[in-house]
Amino acid sequence: MTAPLPLSDDGLGRLAEFDVVPLVGISDPGTVDAIADGLVAGGLPVAEVALRGEHGLAGIARMASRGDVLVGAGTVLSVDQAREALDAGASFVVTPGLDVEVVRFVRDAGIPIVPGVLTPTEVQAARREGLRRLKLFPAGVFGGLKVLSAYADVFRDMRFMPSGGISQANLAEHLSHPAVFAASGSWITSSGDAEQIAAAARAAVAIGLETRGSAA
Ligand code: 3PG
Repeated sequence: MTAPLPLSDDGLGRLAEFDVVPLVGISDPGTVDAIADGLVAGGLPVAEVALRGEHGLAGIARMASRGDVLVGAGTVLSVDQAREALDAGASFVVTPGLDVEVVRFVRDAGIPIVPGVLTPTEVQAARREGLRRLKLFPAGVFGGLKVLSAYADVFRDMRFMPSGGISQANLAEHLSHPAVFAASGSWITSSGDAEQIAAAARAAVAIGLETRGSAA
């Protein structure tokens, strides 16, 4: 069984450098470099590439091969998918829900994982695995900020990455919540256009600096 992380260790590695994690969906493999270029130009060189279509794995491999973006895999639903994502070069894994087998597989490989949770039962199950950083998904549908406030009182050593419904308009209120370690979402990359992505990334970095005093 995987040893629990010490309470002081967030277990995120380089992912801990970022307050905002752009979600990337790849419908056209030809857009991978434009998306990466935009993120790098905007000062937010991190991407959670979703495994939601036929191009996800190739997108991870292409983006990771550039060496200028911290690339993770999102929407990982099974151990097999996690293995493929790590083989493709993913440096972190995000899952929409809590699957203990996936959590143990990824951590045993020495890679950070941020599994999704929604309910207190799921938070406790993740905590029991030694995890202290979780994705709250789908945050917007379930009144994310109110849930975060309720969890902050109860799960005092847990921190969350709300996802689902986060945008430039509500990023500040999420990042300034004390139970939040980062926020993620597709709004930064959804245009597919390098210049628009750079502008959205710059705006997110600025909001991170204003609300938390850190870069992105
Ligand atoms: C996720 O997988 O994290 C969410 O689907 C992102 O949701 P968004 O598209 O509303 O940002």
